[in-house]
Amino acid sequence: MSVYSWFDDCPDRKDRPSLKWGKYSGRDILPLWVADMDFRAPPAVVDTARKEAEFGNYGYAKCHPELTDAVLEYTSRLYDWKIDPNWIVWLPGMVCALNVCCRMQQDNASQVLTHVPVYPPFLSAPGNFDLTCTQLPLRLQGNRFSMDFELLEKTPTQPGDLFLLCHPHNPVGTAFTNQELERFSRWAEERELLVCSDEIHCDLLLEPNLKHLPLANLNPKIAESTITLMAPSKTYNLPGFGCSFAVISNPDIRLRFKKAMAGIVPDPPAMGFRLAEIAYRQGEEWRQALLKYLRKNRDFALERLHKMTGLTPYSPEATYLLWIDARELKAENPHRFFEEHGVGLSDGSDFGSPGFLRLNLGCSKNLLGQALDRMERACSSMVQK
Ligand SMILES: Cc1ncc(COP(=O)(O)O)c(C=O)c1O
Repeated sequence: MSVYSWFDDCPDRKDRPSLKWGKYSGRDILPLWVADMDFRAPPAVVDTARKEAEFGNYGYAKCHPELTDAVLEYTSRLYDWKIDPNWIVWLPGMVCALNVCCRMQQDNASQVLTHVPVYPPFLSAPGNFDLTCTQLPLRLQGNRFSMDFELLEKTPTQPGDLFLLCHPHNPVGTAFTNQELERFSRWAEERELLVCSDEIHCDLLLEPNLKHLPLANLNPKIAESTITLMAPSKTYNLPGFGCSFAVISNPDIRLRFKKAMAGIVPDPPAMGFRLAEIAYRQGEEWRQALLKYLRKNRDFALERLHKMTGLTPYSPEATYLLWIDARELKAENPHRFFEEHGVGLSDGSDFGSPGFLRLNLGCSKNLLGQALDRMERACSSMVQK
């Protein structure tokens, strides 16, 4: 199968126990919402999954040394980031890791800060532990969302408060630059904040000239107060196998993080560990082909969306999620409006931005085209009213 048909020809998940497709089961609504992609995982991953399944024993698992080596080699090759094996803490998911970060703050601080809009668990995790969540709106500069440093300067904080950073950013698709990260880290250091940098989307920078910069790799000082979250799950489309990791160089913070996990957070499953290793070791050719495919889907969608009256799309620099301002459409509820016209998008209200929508580009161009046709007809019907 050629690389392109690999992405054009997606497995049919209509009758599968799939979160994305199951939501609209039995209804003619194309699901372009939750952040998983419709594509098959890389061929080497699929082969390994088959062999592991046939092995027939599914006992408790433990991270194997080859996986640690694969992670160290990967972070070094892609990000020039040299990490120590002792800094790695494995977890079955990133939402769980965001909640662990908040849990470890329970006795130390009361405030969690984050940018909005943002991936919904950033907004809900603090409340799960009776912490207040301070939402700091990103600032739109031209067609790109960036951090609002004036607002950061004005915001009161206490030493030890937690900042949940999404880098690259879901849903707005910003890949923060070196300057932005430097300025952010100076501010966080001055305020003595703990930072959780969720970098789950970091392998999916769509512009070939952009390079992801792990926050903790900027300088040793910020590394001392940063918990970095990474995973192969978004990049290689393995979220169903629950395998992610935190990188925490500061031993005291690592200990607090592990204490907050104790007795609650299970290890990833054996299949997750094994597939993570194969994805990191053998997935590069597939990842490059994926990036090309996503870039084409993004450009195709932007061209169409820009022509739809009432919608303002923002071009993502990273990942397969496209943020759209639908407030000009004058639909009472844009999310429901598009569902009624056969397209299931993510509702901006869940991200802290009512009137906005998030479209998932991780699907075949054919499906994307059908969804855009429906959206175009829906927008035209509003104009004609
Ligand atoms: C920024 C971010 N963090 C975490 C997650 C979820 O990770 P997991 O499925 O490992 O809980 C997502 C999924 O969309 C995400 O976009």
